[in-house]
Amino acid sequence: MGNEDGMREPLGSLHGIPLYKSFVAGWPQVEAFQARPDDLLISTYPKSGTTWLSEILDMIYQDGNVEKCRRDAIFNRVPFLEMKAPNVPSGVDQLEKTPSPRLVKTHLPVQLLPTSFWDKKCKVIYMARNPKDVVISYYYFYQMAKIHPDPGTLPEFLEAFMAGKVAYGSWYEHVQGWWKKRNDKQLLYLFYEDMKKDPQQEVEKILRFLGKKVAEGTVEKILHHTSFQEMKKNPAANYETMPTSLMDHNLSPFLRKGIAGDWKNHFTVAQNERFDQHYQKLMAGSDLHFQMEA
Ligand code: A3P
Repeated sequence: MGNEDGMREPLGSLHGIPLYKSFVAGWPQVEAFQARPDDLLISTYPKSGTTWLSEILDMIYQDGNVEKCRRDAIFNRVPFLEMKAPNVPSGVDQLEKTPSPRLVKTHLPVQLLPTSFWDKKCKVIYMARNPKDVVISYYYFYQMAKIHPDPGTLPEFLEAFMAGKVAYGSWYEHVQGWWKKRNDKQLLYLFYEDMKKDPQQEVEKILRFLGKKVAEGTVEKILHHTSFQEMKKNPAANYETMPTSLMDHNLSPFLRKGIAGDWKNHFTVAQNERFDQHYQKLMAGSDLHFQMEA
């Protein structure tokens, strides 16, 4: 396909990381980004629960006020730092207009994070998800979000993912790169699977990390409002307000299944064995472990 809007174009490269060409073009503005000390950065590899974590954090910031969290779409409430597309404000433009305290979303690998976030000692919450569910979620996302090149068949996409030849590059390097920072006081490293298993425990962990106290009943409100079922029907959280030319929910909804272990419905036995072998090679020696199912 390919056209002047950058839809279905091959990926470009940002310091060796495959990335949308429009984002690469916007990089100088991102690299020079001035973080504020009270910014909170939400960092993930794509398809790891970014939107879920963003909605939880906005609910925390709004003290559990659901109406306030409906004030705008999630992609405007939590601007996407490195986002750059024709005819719309860039992530940095949006952030400059956002009053403090800001929530900032990024998928950048740790080595590319603008230095200002470290200089200002901003808090960062990283959420990781097991790679088998990430690759399946990404495969459907490639189909519905037309900024991506055509994903090809699932076997082809699996190979591309394992080789790090998808947008944002190697999942293995991304999760391990951020894991190296996990002992920094400013970073909280979370897992999608833990959030699925015990969202209350994880929300309380976030509250402690932020040093925030909430009124009685607020955690319950947060958990209800950010459940998969509630978010799926919430136009401010489900991305349905994005133009169909950018995201086609008829091809696959943004909030697709929201479970741990959906890869089992997609991987063949042979694909699973190959994936496991490759995983063990790339994660060898790391003390970072993933739960591949609920
Ligand atoms: P699936 O495609 O497996 O359903 P991101 O926001 O990083 O792009 O991640 C999207 C993934 O998170 C999708 O996974 C989506 O369904 C899932 N997700 C979003 N909100 C969720 C929620 N409240 N609970 C569980 N999963 C959620």
